[in-house]
Order: sequence, then C-alpha cells, then structure tokens
Amino acid sequence: MAVMNNRGRFIVFEGIDGAGKSTQIDLLKQKLQADGRRVYCTAEPTESVSGGLLRDALGGVSKRTTCELAAMFVLDRIFHNVNPVHGIEKMLAEGIDVICDRYYYSSLAYQGSDTDFTWVRDMNLNCPEIRTPDVCIFLDLTPEQSMARIEGGRVTKEIYETDEKLTRVRNQFYRVFEELKERDRIEIVDASRSIEEIHQEIVGLLQ
Ligand code: ADP
Ligand code: TYD
Repeated sequence: MAVMNNRGRFIVFEGIDGAGKSTQIDLLKQKLQADGRRVYCTAEPTESVSGGLLRDALGGVSKRTTCELAAMFVLDRIFHNVNPVHGIEKMLAEGIDVICDRYYYSSLAYQGSDTDFTWVRDMNLNCPEIRTPDVCIFLDLTPEQSMARIEGGRVTKEIYETDEKLTRVRNQFYRVFEELKERDRIEIVDASRSIEEIHQEIVGLLQ
C-alpha cells in the first residue's frame, strides 16, 4: 500500500550573531539532501517587503522603536508561515523539510530584552498563524568568540552586533529556553568546536 505523504520537518537554528548558523544550515541541508529529503532553507527577516523594512531598521537606515521592531517581526513571521508561494506551511505540507535561520526565539531574546517580555512572548506564541518548530537548535557561543568571527568575516555590523548587546541577548536566550522547555524542543549545542564536530552532533540530534 502506498505510504501517506509525510509532512516535512521544521528545524530552526538560533544563536547570537556570528554563532555559525549559516555554516551549519548549509551542511545540514547537504546531509538531508544526500539522505533523499527535499529541503527548503529560509531565514528571518524574510526577503519580503516586511523583511526589507526590518533590514533597514537593523542596518540603522531607518530608526524604529523596539515595539515597532517586535510587531514588524511578528508580521514578517506570519507572512513567512502562510504565504501561498513559498510559505513554511506550504513547504511542510508538501513533505519538504524547512530549515529556518532564526525564528520567534530571536524576537523573545532580542526585542524581549529591550521591552515588555510578556507582550513579545504572547504576540508570538499565541498567534495561530505562527507554527511551533519541531526542533530549535541553539548554537551557543560566547559574545567574545562570536565578535571575533564577525570581525574576521565582514566589514559592516548590524545594530545588535556589540559585545554588550550580545551578552544581554545570550542571557535572554537562556531565559527564553528555560521558560519554553516544556513547550518546545530546544537543543543547546556548544558552537565553540570545529564545524565538523558541531555538524555531527546536530545530525545525531535529528536522528
Ligand atoms: P551566523 O550565520 O550565525 O551569523 P556564520 O555561519 O555566518 O554565522 O559564521 C560566522 C563566521 O564564523 C563565518 O566567517 C564562518 O566561516 C565562521 N565559522 C562558522 N562556524 C565556525 C566554527 N565552528 N569555527 C570557526 N569559525 C566558524
Ligand atoms: P541575521 O541576518 O540572521 O544575522 P546574523 O547572520 O548576523 O546572525 O539576523 C539579523 C538580525 O535580526 C540579528 O541581529 C538578530 C535580529 N533579529 C531580531 O532582533 N529579532 C527577530 O525576531 C529576528 C528573527 C532577528
């Protein structure tokens, strides 16, 4: 008998800026594809209009309050889930695995540490059109290590890429994971190791 078309898996990567998310997402994509899976890699902020507004704000081009940013991220995230062309829901329903670079954990950590945490949390977690991931992989790195990687890799920095801010955000990520540990599957991975070691641990976690 034909096997029912299984849904794809929804895998989120989180970590402070420079923690190695893009690097590990690329490797995981290759591994899943080699296993015969179809994979869609995506990221927040998205490539849509709302994502463009967010990038302008993050790059310092337009100034926004933290509440404006938090609300814009929610709008961008809803669009990311439900848009009929390449939305997360559509991909998962077609059996495609979705790997997403950042998701609501980032809103809770970044905006949640700058304004009312409960408001940011509820707006994201209580929204019926924002899906809970199957797993969140947190690449954990100290701000010093991540700043060294950022500085080694590129010239421009975003508004959150300072040592002090990253320390606050990393601590807030821990708070978020403690609060969500019964609700979401969260895996904290030591990202200070070699690219290959980290990749192997992630592959093991997903088996
Ligand atoms: P993110 O997407 O989290 O900002 P990247 O994957 O872009 O992080 O990595 C930031 C920089 O650190 C890049 O220059 C990348 O090549 C490097 N890098 C990534 N993973 C490691 C690692 N495990 N060890 C050393 N350097 C790394
Ligand atoms: P990203 O492009 O992933 O940066 P990096 O590759 O350096 O990790 O993310 C851009 C910035 O957006 C990053 O500084 C974190 C911030 N951000 C939020 O503040 N809230 C959110 O909800 C998301 C998704 C991202």
